[in-house]
Amino acid sequence: MRVGVLTGGRDCPGLNAVVRAVVRKGVQEYGYEFVGFVDGWRGPLEGDTVPLDIPAVRGTLPQGGTILGTSRTHPLDEEDGVRRIRDNLDKLRVDALITIGGRDTLGTAARLADEHGLPCVAVPKTIDNDLSGTDRTLGFDTAVNVATGAIDRLHTTAESHKRVLVVEVMGGDAGWIAVHSGLAGGANVVLIPEQPFDIDQVCAWVTSRFRASYSPIVVVGDGARPRGGAPVLTHVPSAASGRVRLSGVGEWLAGQIEQRTGKEARTTVLGHLQRGGSPSPFDRWLATRFGLHAVDAVRDGDFGKMVALRGTDIVRVPIAEATARIKTVDPALYEEIGVFFG
Ligand code: F6P
Repeated sequence: MRVGVLTGGRDCPGLNAVVRAVVRKGVQEYGYEFVGFVDGWRGPLEGDTVPLDIPAVRGTLPQGGTILGTSRTHPLDEEDGVRRIRDNLDKLRVDALITIGGRDTLGTAARLADEHGLPCVAVPKTIDNDLSGTDRTLGFDTAVNVATGAIDRLHTTAESHKRVLVVEVMGGDAGWIAVHSGLAGGANVVLIPEQPFDIDQVCAWVTSRFRASYSPIVVVGDGARPRGGAPVLTHVPSAASGRVRLSGVGEWLAGQIEQRTGKEARTTVLGHLQRGGSPSPFDRWLATRFGLHAVDAVRDGDFGKMVALRGTDIVRVPIAEATARIKTVDPALYEEIGVFFG
C-alpha cells in the first residue's frame, strides 16, 4: 500500500506532528510506503512529490509550518483537474490520500471522494476552529495560547498608561479565537463576526471600565464588523486575486473609541504570530491522535471520512458533513461571557 499525504490551505501549528504520526504508524504497524505531495493540491495535480519516510519526519513533532509546503490551489477549478490527479496517483501507484486542511482543502477532498471516487481521508486543521463535526481543529489551541499571552502582557502596559488597548486576533468568519482568548485573558470587551457590534455600546463599556479605575482591553476578531456595516479592510483586493484579506477592524475601532470617549486608544494586530511556531502540548496531542486515526481509516478503506474530536474520543465523520457549513460561536456562549464586559 502506498499512501500520499498533503497539507493544504493556510498553515497552522501541528501539521508536521500529524504527518509524523501518520508515517510512524503506517510504516511500523502496517508496512505502508508514503509519498509526500508538495504544496497542497498542487502536488497531486502536477505530480510533485518528496520522499516521506521515518527519517524524513524525525524531529518534526514540535516544528511549526509544514515540511510538505502548502498552497491554496483549487484542482476543481481546472477543467481537467480530476483527470490529472487521477493520472498522477496511478503513475505514482498511490492507493490512498490523506489530506490535512481546512474548509477549502477538505471541501475539495469531499468532492473528490464523493463525486469522483478518489480514496481520500481528511484531518481537520485551522486556527479558526470553524470546521463542523469536530469539537476542535488542529492549531486552534496554539493560537489561543499566543493570543492569551499577548492579552496578559497588554494588561500591564494598558494600566501603566491608562490607555485603551485593542487586540485584533485572527479567526476569519468565526469568533472562536476572540471568545476563548478574551475570556482566558480577562478582556473587558470581546467582539466577534457572528454578532455585529454597536460602537456606542463598546464606548459605554470602555468608559465604565475607566470609571472603575482600570484600563480596558478590547479583543476583536479580524472578521468582526459594526452593526449595519461591512467588514473594515485596510487591504483592497486586487481584481486579479479578488481575495478579501481581513484586517483593519482593530485600528478602525481604536480611532472610533478615541474620538468618542476622548481616551487614548492603541491597537495591536497579532496577525500571523498566531499561526507560526511550535504547537502547544494539546495541539501535539491532537495532531498525533488525528494522524494515528487517519492511517487507521486508510487501513479500513473508510474513504470520504474525516477524523474528528468528540469529547476525548477520535471518531470519523463524512468529510462532506464537516465542510458543508461553517461552525460559528453559539449566541448563548457569547451571552455567557458578556458578564465580564465593561
Ligand atoms: O483561516 C486562517 C486565517 O489565519 C484566518 O484566521 C485569517 O483571517 C486568515 O487566515 C488570514 O489569511 P492570510 O494569511 O491569507 O492573510
